[in-house]
Amino acid sequence: MAKVLVSAVLPGPALDRLRLHHEVEVGADPTGLGREGLIARIEGASAVITRVSDRVDEAVLDRAPALRIVANCAVGVDNVDLAACRRRGIVVTNTPDVLTDATADFTFALLLAACRRVAEGDRLVRAGGWRGFSLTEMLGVRATGASLGIVGLGRIGRAVAQRARGFSMRVRYTQRRPADEAVERAADAAYVSLDVLLAESEIVCLCCPLNDSTRNLISRERLAQMRRGAVLINTARGGCVDSLAVAEALQSGQLAAAGFDVYPHEPAVDPALLACENAVLTPHIGSADRPTREGMASLSVESVIDVLAGRAPRHPVP
Ligand code: DGY
Repeated sequence: MAKVLVSAVLPGPALDRLRLHHEVEVGADPTGLGREGLIARIEGASAVITRVSDRVDEAVLDRAPALRIVANCAVGVDNVDLAACRRRGIVVTNTPDVLTDATADFTFALLLAACRRVAEGDRLVRAGGWRGFSLTEMLGVRATGASLGIVGLGRIGRAVAQRARGFSMRVRYTQRRPADEAVERAADAAYVSLDVLLAESEIVCLCCPLNDSTRNLISRERLAQMRRGAVLINTARGGCVDSLAVAEALQSGQLAAAGFDVYPHEPAVDPALLACENAVLTPHIGSADRPTREGMASLSVESVIDVLAGRAPRHPVP
């Protein structure tokens, strides 16, 4: 039996399965061990199951010379130093596919909530500020038929495009290179440059991974390139956006609304963003429906069992 460190309790039966094979240590806080907690607990571990907010860097890896796998219970792996793991022969795995629909559903939930001022209306009613039906108040942005720009036509971007069809949206996308024709056809989405996408889309959704080419992608300059009154949705990573610049754009009306599920320094949220009534802000719950989270847990556990048994895992990160 090898020692497996799990950053935080996992939903569903996955941990019980893991305990049949290995000695399992689980962090007590449901929000996870974080980098410092990993450093304190990882010694002697052959495997670790991490979450998006557990930074796995050289300092963590130095404490775990026997480590064979980092199973990140997420599709994004920007929290893991992949190059350092590669140098040490440590396998990194993630949990794609299983969370695609949940995240695309949630992207649409945020999109509609931002366009139609759902959270703001909820706050108004709860605060007792609603004075009755009005033809002129709380007017929002029309989602049906809008032009939608998707940044990153990966699995989640494609699932967002598929949902957009139900709202008769015109979908365009951008990423480093155009997708295969078959992918474009299935998504019913046309490739454009980022400049064109920002200048022409009424709604922009970020569905890209965080890497050197997407860090701070939506900067003050990029926001200025967007259509006045556009809506910005981010279910990707907080680091893709300059949140202070977004807050300014929300206040000036350059953006009509925004929907954010992710932030650069979670759980901290920029106070300037918190002050914006026209921002819908959720706590990184894009993949948080029960079957999805249980599926992510079970994939992570399977990866650990496979790698420690000398088998190739289902989702190695290259
Ligand atoms: C991911 O998987 O990368 C999400 O951010 C958490 O589900």
